[in-house]
Amino acid sequence: MSISNSKELLIKATAEKYAVGAFNVTNIAQMAAVIETAAELKAPVIIQTSVAPVKQLTPELFAAAFRNIAERVDISVAIQLDHCTSIDLCKRCIDAGYTSIMIDASKETLEDNIRITKTVVDYARENNDVSIEGELGTVGGVEDQVRVVMSQVELCDPQNALKFIEETGLDNFAPAIGTAHGIYKSNNPEIDIDRLKIIAKLINGGKVVAPLVIHGGSGLSEQIVRDLVFSGGSKFNVSTELKHVWIKGAEEYIINAPKEFNPVKMNRVQMDLTMKLVHSWIDRLGSSGKSGV
Ligand code: 13P
Repeated sequence: MSISNSKELLIKATAEKYAVGAFNVTNIAQMAAVIETAAELKAPVIIQTSVAPVKQLTPELFAAAFRNIAERVDISVAIQLDHCTSIDLCKRCIDAGYTSIMIDASKETLEDNIRITKTVVDYARENNDVSIEGELGTVGGVEDQVRVVMSQVELCDPQNALKFIEETGLDNFAPAIGTAHGIYKSNNPEIDIDRLKIIAKLINGGKVVAPLVIHGGSGLSEQIVRDLVFSGGSKFNVSTELKHVWIKGAEEYIINAPKEFNPVKMNRVQMDLTMKLVHSWIDRLGSSGKSGV
């Protein structure tokens, strides 16, 4: 096994033009299913937990379970706290053993976003080799406690991106380019791929300074996913689709065995559906066989 921070995984992905899947989980069985699938495909993978599950089960439990599962596989893995607006919770997750943190101050002014993000970057530099992700512009939709109505979405300004990265010293950068959290209302959402290309050239055109993160993976067409990866996205966040198959698995089990009441069997159905989904994402992202371990 190789537990690493996310930046290490993403520098290689950026250079080789594939993306690492960052899959949001809410419980340990789901986490095991994601890591097992990545191990079967020899793909590097990032486990993500958003704030609500972390508050429910604690960062310490997630980090310990992650470490335990990671020790049994032969791939590079990282664990990230997703979309956290609280500096204190970011610090607690760093202390608990998370290898990657997203501090989300994207709803603040640029100056405040820089100040808040830098506080977490500074803490990470003092405490282990943890990667920090920051966001500029806003991603529409709902991800846990972060809500942005579509009419208020602001796309990332490339020059501000440069300033943000330079002044915070962050590791991974999430530019808002029109992707959204949750299921897309249209089959053909307006994604500003040219903006991503400009940002990728500006930031990672020479040496890779800050790998680029694409939020809002669920529901994007295979072609858009491939275009975004080709245009510089090297971390791809997927959450809603995992939630849906987890709940569908429970539903399927209950419909098929309404009098059985066996949670282990129910988890098996949920894990199998999760593994199928994660497998298809890893294929799309081109990360199969790319684990450096
Ligand atoms: P989706 O829920 O749309 O897949 O977005 C995931 C995400 O960006 C998590 O940060």
